[in-house]
Amino acid sequence: MSNTSIYQQRRAQLAKAMGPGGVAIIPTAPEQQRNRDSDFPYRADSYFYYLTGFTEPKAWLVVTGDGCSTLFCQPKDAEREIWDGYRLGPVSAPVELDLTAAYSVANLDAKMPALLDGRDAVWFPFATHTGLEAQVSGWLGALRARVRYGSLTPQTQRDLCGLLDEMRLIKDPSEQATMRRAGQISAAAHIRAMKTSAQMLRAGKEVREFHLEAELLHEFRMNGSQFPAYGSIVAAGGSACVLHYRADRGLVRDGELVLIDAACELDGYASDITRTFPANGRFTGPQRTLYELVLAAEEAAVAATKAGARFTDPHDAAVKVLAQGMLDVGLLDKNKVGNLDDVIEKRAYFKFYMHRTGHWIGMDVHDCGDYTEPSEIGQISTRKDALTGELIQDRPARILRPGMAMTLEPGIYVRPGEGVPEQFHNIGIRIEDDALVTTAGCELITRDVPVTVADIEALMRA
Ligand code: GLY
Ligand code: MN
Ligand code: MN
Repeated sequence: MSNTSIYQQRRAQLAKAMGPGGVAIIPTAPEQQRNRDSDFPYRADSYFYYLTGFTEPKAWLVVTGDGCSTLFCQPKDAEREIWDGYRLGPVSAPVELDLTAAYSVANLDAKMPALLDGRDAVWFPFATHTGLEAQVSGWLGALRARVRYGSLTPQTQRDLCGLLDEMRLIKDPSEQATMRRAGQISAAAHIRAMKTSAQMLRAGKEVREFHLEAELLHEFRMNGSQFPAYGSIVAAGGSACVLHYRADRGLVRDGELVLIDAACELDGYASDITRTFPANGRFTGPQRTLYELVLAAEEAAVAATKAGARFTDPHDAAVKVLAQGMLDVGLLDKNKVGNLDDVIEKRAYFKFYMHRTGHWIGMDVHDCGDYTEPSEIGQISTRKDALTGELIQDRPARILRPGMAMTLEPGIYVRPGEGVPEQFHNIGIRIEDDALVTTAGCELITRDVPVTVADIEALMRA
């Protein structure tokens, strides 16, 4: 199946979901200036790209419930193309992108009222594109002004995010293939950074976080990835305990751990990998103890990830292993916090594990899609949070289905503090892989990079 027909199929699915009276308006992302005369690298809007595969800026897609698709795009312009590069243009677009019609984006305001005329509901993504609501209002106003000439204005505005999020939540085979490739490239990048760290230290060189980041970026780009999927984290030593640390200029010291959370985006799809490894290639005793614990938690999360399970099951499984481990290794004192059930009930583990075990992944690294089960909306239960005393409303978590994609990423972060065993101070560990949910379990698509102590040490010795 060509990619064009995949996009056409998605538009047909959208049209069907809206029904014949619907019309959807989807703008791509705006260009963003970085500073004077210099823009951030351009990236298309995920919804727009999902339905078109088209990556030029200043473009809009309109899909009507009868299955017609209209694109507004930049017109051909010999002068501008000398400066900014090739434009597809509205003459070629219908054939190239399998569309009903295409016009210059300069005609957007003139043509849109007619595309809305006679529809009963206009769908667009709510609260995602600055100024879009006002633009839609303007087009509806223009249409209403022609009511004496027989125009019919849509009576309803609906959020398109809900429909598209549900479609994007299940990754089709072509999306899964791209995500697998993104995972392979990112895994190769982690391997490269691990090897470089050990080699540079063995050679007596100074290693800084940015040296390892450079290796990651090299591997991403050498394999055709367009961007990192998110800001790379390369955190040496205690910086690993700062959850949103970025690759900076910190010294990578012999004897300390390095946490790298970095991965590429390929053809619009993100990957997301974290590995934590000893800078010199050999774990110390305390590092190994905590590493094995986080790995056991990740394996428990993997085992809990399968169609029919809840989104929260991998998190609950990981927390159980981590909490028991914290008691076993003395991070938590059982005389103070009690047994495993108490630690979970009182959320005592939160001091060392304060984030969730995963998120949807797809075109966006934190991908769209409801985390609550749509078939059980309304079944709300209330509980009191043990740490904050707040009343929390829980809705049933999403039931996993084949084709969903999520990360599994438990961790432990030990900041120095009273009663915290000194041998574990400043150790921060996270292990993160990307999983495709299958009927029987899940497929880990980022495991080309070693994850066990033995395999990491062997790789870094080589
Ligand atoms: N790298 C972003 C995350 O792990 O969620
Ligand atoms: Mn993640
Ligand atoms: Mn990550």
